[in-house]
Amino acid sequence: MGKTILSASLLSADFANIESEVKKCEENGVDWIHYDVMDGHFVDNITFGFAFIEQSKKHHNLVCDVHIMIDNPFLYARRFCRMGADILTFHYEACKSDKQIFQIIDDIHQCGCKAGLSINPKTPVSKLFPFLHSLDLVLIMSVEPGYGGQPFDENAPDKVKALKEYMNEHEIKNTLISIDGGINGKTAPIAKAVGCDVLVSGSYLFKAEDFKATVEQLKK
Ligand code: DX5
Ligand code: ZN
Repeated sequence: MGKTILSASLLSADFANIESEVKKCEENGVDWIHYDVMDGHFVDNITFGFAFIEQSKKHHNLVCDVHIMIDNPFLYARRFCRMGADILTFHYEACKSDKQIFQIIDDIHQCGCKAGLSINPKTPVSKLFPFLHSLDLVLIMSVEPGYGGQPFDENAPDKVKALKEYMNEHEIKNTLISIDGGINGKTAPIAKAVGCDVLVSGSYLFKAEDFKATVEQLKK
């Protein structure tokens, strides 16, 4: 198992001081910046879009990990890549067919970006299997997408275990497993033990009294 990658979800950051928030991440050992794009349709919350990513990205050199919780990823994937996503993760549930998922992955790769696919807590992990060879990352949602600060889904570790088993059996070595939602000092070790490569953390990290110590705790 490689070193754990920590992706800081800006959803819980101070939007009015985004420059200092991303700099704080960069200076304290965070690896990636996680951008949660929400459209008010796929999820009922609305966050930010292209301009926010493009402009805030100027203030850091970390990997731009963009998670789009939107209804029509096919329409928008290329545009998010052009706005500066290094990794673009879209939702299985937002796609019309397996064929469309392969098309979106292809579009993302043609833009020179890495492609990720995410599933909601209620979606079986087996739905990801047909795409694993083409994906750079899979994102297991350990909360219902939409809001930060929700409790970790207890079924998520079993999904990761099943995914890991499948990947080992089929010799899929280059697809990272990321987990998103409810990551804290208690759940991070569980996620790591079952094989997650990337931990996304929002509220636990940004509300911490000691940011640096919390980064170290989550990555250790
Ligand atoms: C939820 C988002 C998450 C969120 C996680 O829909 O995808 O990235 O920010 O927040 P916490 O870490 O507070 O659960
Ligand atoms: Zn997210």
